Amino acid sequence: MHAKIMGTGSYLPDNQVTNHYISTLVDTSDEWIKERTGIASRHISTGETTVEMAAAAGKKALEDAGIGALDVDLIIVATVSADHLLPSTACSVQKELGAVNAAAFDINAACSGFLFALNIADSYIQTGMCRTALLIGVETLSKITNWNDRNTCILFGDGAGAAVITASETPGFMAGIQGSDGARGHVLSCRGRTTDNPFADGDLSLGYIYMDGPEVFKFAVKKVPECIQEVLEKGNRNLEDVSLFLLHQANFRIIKSIAHRLRLPLEKFPVNVDECGNTSAASVPILLDETNKKGLLHSGELVVLAGFGAGLTWGAALLEW
Ligand code: COA
Repeated sequence: MHAKIMGTGSYLPDNQVTNHYISTLVDTSDEWIKERTGIASRHISTGETTVEMAAAAGKKALEDAGIGALDVDLIIVATVSADHLLPSTACSVQKELGAVNAAAFDINAACSGFLFALNIADSYIQTGMCRTALLIGVETLSKITNWNDRNTCILFGDGAGAAVITASETPGFMAGIQGSDGARGHVLSCRGRTTDNPFADGDLSLGYIYMDGPEVFKFAVKKVPECIQEVLEKGNRNLEDVSLFLLHQANFRIIKSIAHRLRLPLEKFPVNVDECGNTSAASVPILLDETNKKGLLHSGELVVLAGFGAGLTWGAALLEW
């Protein structure tokens, strides 16, 4: 039995925010942002919630797969920007979609979240725990972004991407890898609530994303090529066998450097970071949906997905489309 992606969907807020607009908020410029990151604009919520965006992307993925909400028996949402601590985003999405037969839960593996979700879904399908899973990566990073910090506010965007993965006779998910290095968690972080109760005085101020940009950059350009090689070895395939590499969209310079290190043409790396910025867990499934809807994924061809981010975490998947 194989686990195969049968449909994809995505949702991006209509509100597109340009670098020019951001340069009215902090001391930066369109030229600087484009040169250092490749980002020209990003979609920012004007009130759409994490649940609303996730449900919209999930609905489109179900339509694309040609199945109904009742067919879904697992919903996994990857996010670091849930609307509520309780209930989970996945349970709220279940309610929105009427997917009453599903078990639903969230995971937090930051920008690698969709890769971790794929691995979980594949394991559930292989062990008979589920047949049809709806996987969603969604972020409203704008609410945990410090809009006065030019080191971070230029980078992030909001949105959601989704995929339906189901038990299939034909090949699909061929190999997955994942990893974490909690000892380097401090280079990309966002504090949550601290303990504030009758026995402890907590800090009630809001936490925002903190990032050591150069450290994250170095981690990404080293780790992503390694994990692409590792997943190909696990799947007994070579770099040359792969048609497209869909990477987490954090920075165009990172993507260029990874293509260079792997000695692959940049054309094999679809990009939307220019229009979406970094949408963390939503980034890989949004790109997957865009690539799918453009008709660039052909049956029988091999595709590699790879992500990296806070934790630190990383993951990659080898798929036959
Ligand atoms: N506009 C203008 N100048 C800026 C700026 C901005 N938005 N942000 C930083 N600068 C300045 C810095 O203050 C620094 O000035 P100084 O030399 O006078 O001290 C200079 O630009 C260079 O800063 P540095 O941080 O070294 O730039 P960089 O080339 O490393 O680019 C990032 C910064 C954030 C674009 C880059 O490090 C990066 O993309 N890192 C990875 C981020 C990432 O992928 N995060 C998410 C992972 S999931």
